[in-house]
Amino acid sequence: MTPTRVNTQPFEGQKPGTSGLRKKVVDFQQPGYLENFVQAIFNTIARCEGETLVIGGDGRFYNREAIQIIMRMAAANGFARILVGQGGILSTPAASCVIRKHGACGGIILSASHNPGGPTEDFGIKFNGENGGPAPEKLTEAFYQQTLAIEQYLTIDADDLDLDQPGSAQLGNTQIDVIDPVKDYADLMESLFDFERMAALLTRGKFRMCFDAMHAVTGPYAKEILEKRLGAPQGTVINAEPLEDFGGGHPDPNLVHAHQLVELLNNDDPLDFGAASDGDGDRNMVLGKGFYINPCDSLAILTANAQLVPGYAEGIAGVARSMPTSRAVDRVAARQGVDCYETPTGWKFFGNLLDAGKITLCGEESFGTGSDHVREKDGLWAVLFWLDLIAAKEQPAREIVRSHWIQYGRDYFTRHDYEGLDSDSARQMIDQVRENLGALVGRAFGELSVESADDFQYRDPVDGSETTGQGIRVLLDNGGRIVYRLSGTGTQGATLRVYLDCYQKDPALLELDPQKALAPLIEVADRIAGINRHTGREQPDVIT
Ligand code: G1P
Ligand code: ZN
Repeated sequence: MTPTRVNTQPFEGQKPGTSGLRKKVVDFQQPGYLENFVQAIFNTIARCEGETLVIGGDGRFYNREAIQIIMRMAAANGFARILVGQGGILSTPAASCVIRKHGACGGIILSASHNPGGPTEDFGIKFNGENGGPAPEKLTEAFYQQTLAIEQYLTIDADDLDLDQPGSAQLGNTQIDVIDPVKDYADLMESLFDFERMAALLTRGKFRMCFDAMHAVTGPYAKEILEKRLGAPQGTVINAEPLEDFGGGHPDPNLVHAHQLVELLNNDDPLDFGAASDGDGDRNMVLGKGFYINPCDSLAILTANAQLVPGYAEGIAGVARSMPTSRAVDRVAARQGVDCYETPTGWKFFGNLLDAGKITLCGEESFGTGSDHVREKDGLWAVLFWLDLIAAKEQPAREIVRSHWIQYGRDYFTRHDYEGLDSDSARQMIDQVRENLGALVGRAFGELSVESADDFQYRDPVDGSETTGQGIRVLLDNGGRIVYRLSGTGTQGATLRVYLDCYQKDPALLELDPQKALAPLIEVADRIAGINRHTGREQPDVIT
């Protein structure tokens, strides 16, 4: 079948952000919009002939239509084989797993992660390379440059394929394999964790847990692994059916949006363990009985105990965290004598370190934790890691966290988000802080004074690439730290994120409310940036 060349014109603003191109569904529905971006990817990677491509998404509104368009274009661009998840479904970590396992040259993942879905909500697309990880900045910048110059895209004239039946079909000269989206991933999990020990924990009746899939992509994964393979009671997974609009919810596993779960861990008869994942399955939130485990602590605790888990029994090569993530994991790495890397926000910065074998575990404060088993953060993996630790240590989650704090001290952490800000004033505020960094050093704010301040930049230790402007860091003389950055994933206005953390090793002060423990720092953060003055906001919209 000969490909059709369709004339097209560049669209404005197809610059990928922290995790690919995210826009409203209506933007993607404009004729040529998705096509241009996909052709820009294919032009940039320039190796389609004879290759295998993986396609899948989080099942949100427009997922199916987008997949049909992309399959026709991939066929026209000469791919030999396309692996697509049944029903168009592949969680982000599962896509990463499938790319790696089947020797694909890459994959296209359709998701706007934790952003709401539906006709008036968000959609997104990103490309992951043959290592299974998000395209590095050099590549995403090249995609963008292509979108500015694009004049034509390639497609073929063919009907939609049935994505609901597993099996093979032909699209032009391309073989389409509709695959079980769960199996490869579930097998990988089984190779990393002690399923026998976990099954014993989940079936001996005393331990009760709940996994909230938030009507997003992890439902089928959690059902297969927790309920089928590990034997947890039916109903352990709630909101398990992926819906195009996530049931009208906000598929973001935090204390605000996963309130149904939070309730189950905090009522009169609380469960022992709870967990949730986001729209595309790469984020995780874990909860103990009446107890929230901060993702920064979670990374540190998984690192400290990794050797108890079969997949990491031989020890870890090193760890990495995004810059705004608290320094809890640094303390563990120091004690274990392994390297700890501080990277800019976004999973793509872990890729080189993982590929080079410099790190085994990595994570971000934004509910992202992962390891070298794939090249994405992995929500369900983190949940299984916790379950395996609880089983191995025969301790409740809460005890594991407490004893970690006693051993290492606690890094209190919170993030304050100011959403939907006017983009210009948000930018101005950040620019002003940046311009005054020099004058900030040595300045006193009540009892605290500023020890150092900089604009975070990163030199990739593997390929030497430089990234600048990755967030403003202010260190205070009590060991506290304030970080300011603007979100790169929002689709409306600007979101200011203010990250605050402070170390405490006094055993009597390990159980405070983080907002209280960090109150002095929160005040300094407002005074330095003039958040209230610039934005008119008295309070953040979301506190995590
Ligand atoms: C947010 C998180 C970041 C994460 C990204 C993708 O990006 O802060 O850690 O990697 O989502 O899940 P941001 O909106 O802050 O740019
Ligand atoms: Zn996500």
